Amino acid sequence: MNRFEGRVAVVSGAAQGMGKAVALRLGAEGATVIAADINGKGAEATAKEIGGKSFGQQTDIGDPASVKALFDAVAQKFGKLDVQINVAAIVPFVKWDELTFEEWRRVARVNFDGLFLMCKAGSDLMRKNNYGRIVNFGSNSVLAGTPNMAHYVATKGGVLGFTRALATELGGYKITVNTVMPGLIDTEGVQTTAHKDAFGFVDMLQAIKGKGMPADVVPAVAFLASEEAHWITGQALNVDAGMARW
Ligand SMILES: NC(=O)c1ccc[n+]([C@@H]2O[C@H](COP(=O)([O-])OP(=O)(O)OC[C@H]3O[C@@H](n4cnc5c(N)ncnc54)[C@H](O)[C@@H]3O)[C@@H](O)[C@H]2O)c1
Repeated sequence: MNRFEGRVAVVSGAAQGMGKAVALRLGAEGATVIAADINGKGAEATAKEIGGKSFGQQTDIGDPASVKALFDAVAQKFGKLDVQINVAAIVPFVKWDELTFEEWRRVARVNFDGLFLMCKAGSDLMRKNNYGRIVNFGSNSVLAGTPNMAHYVATKGGVLGFTRALATELGGYKITVNTVMPGLIDTEGVQTTAHKDAFGFVDMLQAIKGKGMPADVVPAVAFLASEEAHWITGQALNVDAGMARW
């Protein structure tokens, strides 16, 4: 399939994990991908793997100037934006008793403020063409109330509500906005925290057994980012082997 031929796509968090997997898939299906990540070298490596006019840009999504520089570059090089996948986030492991306001703000700055900055700038560019696909990364932790990440769960709850409101705001421009909510997925990020020890427990809750990998989430994202998903907006899709099925 070449669902993204001629499409320009921004993917945040594209240096590793699910962001990288999504960027590579969109690229493989014909998209020109702007890989954005605070890890600039990683973003460039992903873009290089895709080839063509794709490029990587060091971007801190929580910093207004950095986000502006990203979308200025996209506008200048391509004059349009068709697809935006907001993957970048901090996935922390912090016990409630140790959760400080500083830590709360550190995560909110990226996971929540960053999403606002990215969506604001991206949708401004999409509106010019009356076309757009925005896919935000939520988490099924908002349904499970996952321990040791209360601040993260709060930001992902925000993603869910914001997605619905943004779908309303942008529907008139034929821009769809949806959330995918993965379960526990084996990524570089997860491997750096104690969440990596939770796969056995999560497996017990899943309807389909096994360890979730980035490749298991990519097809849902690619579908929602595709032209044919035009009648789906404001939705949240659990991609978690049926862990949350209520
Ligand atoms: N892995 C999981 O189990 C899981 C489960 C549910 C939801 N999610 C969500 O899926 C998404 C991807 O998760 P992952 O495990 O692949 O992540 P990861 O930690 O492996 O990668 C995250 C990427 O985001 C980048 N990033 C962090 N802060 C940034 C910033 N300020 N600006 C730009 N880039 C920044 C990092 O450099 C990194 O490349 C996240 O939104 C996460 O919350 C993950």
